[in-house]
Amino acid sequence: MELTPRALTFAPGDGQSPPPMTQVYLHPDIADYFVEYDFGEVLRSPADGGPGDLRRKVMEDYVGEKCILLRNVGIDYDRAFLSGVSFPPTWYFKKFPSKVVERDKPLDRNPLKQELCRDLFGGDKGLFHRFEGEVRAVNAGIRRVLDELLRHHRIEASDIIWRHTETRVENLHFDIDQDSGAFESVRLYLNMDDIPRIWHTSHELSRILPAYYDELELGAFASQPLEKLLQTLSLRLFGNWMSRGREQFPRHMVLFEPGDVWICDGRTVPHQVIYGRRVASSFYRLDSAALPAWHPSLKSKVDAVHDAHVAGAPAAGPETLKGYVYPFAAGGPKPPPGVRHPDLKKDWDKLYEESLQPKLVRL
Ligand SMILES: [Fe+2]
Repeated sequence: MELTPRALTFAPGDGQSPPPMTQVYLHPDIADYFVEYDFGEVLRSPADGGPGDLRRKVMEDYVGEKCILLRNVGIDYDRAFLSGVSFPPTWYFKKFPSKVVERDKPLDRNPLKQELCRDLFGGDKGLFHRFEGEVRAVNAGIRRVLDELLRHHRIEASDIIWRHTETRVENLHFDIDQDSGAFESVRLYLNMDDIPRIWHTSHELSRILPAYYDELELGAFASQPLEKLLQTLSLRLFGNWMSRGREQFPRHMVLFEPGDVWICDGRTVPHQVIYGRRVASSFYRLDSAALPAWHPSLKSKVDAVHDAHVAGAPAAGPETLKGYVYPFAAGGPKPPPGVRHPDLKKDWDKLYEESLQPKLVRL
């Protein structure tokens, strides 16, 4: 009997076969914080902010450090066209602020759009206009979801970042938002590629914080910006860019399939991209003075941990987190003598090129 090889990639919504679901390889020591919702059911639930309102449930899960998969979102765009657009592997395009394209000012009067038209389409205005339409379509689809989920919040900023350059092995980290104590951020992702986007994730902040409170002397961060605490935890527990791929922490592995939409608070769920090429992600900021009663800000939650500690609450030791090893407790590993620690922003193109060589590359 002749076997027909199964296609290795799927086109979501091709009508032929159901798209594959996200795959999660769970680490037994880490909580299973993956949940899923049907977006149609969210829309049909009462929008009254009560316990039956699935918008509230989704956001409670977001605050509760869950990774939320949204099913049947349905964002229509020309995937074939966009997958043919080649984004240069530069720092600018690594996190491309797509609002540049959404602005009303037309190409002839917009120097930023003209620059993009040159960089992405060799000056072809027709292609740029087509691209403009697709960016608007994708972003409108993402905003439709977020505007629905955030009906009970006040949105202060609604940026959408397109990461359409190749990402290879980031370091495990908490997301660092500048001035993060002043607002709540919401990140939603859409895998726009035709291959899975692969992530690792680790223990939630609410487990890490008490476990390492004493050992890492986190009380010293009570009066410092929230992002300083998150940055220090990332560096001391997981390591830095130079030690990426060598993290010793237990991690889940997740394969987000093409078309997958997920929401996850990177400030509380440590994560790293192992491989990915095309994603759009929101960077929404919520007014933290206008949060619903059921949405405590991250700052208030972290402050409560500091306060409990001052009040003498016994902190759990790291031994309560089985399998935790952190070889970088004294700071990230240093590069060999004579090797300059790279400035990621400045050296990004070079670093990327250096990682792709016609020989074995040891990173
Ligand atoms: Fe991140």
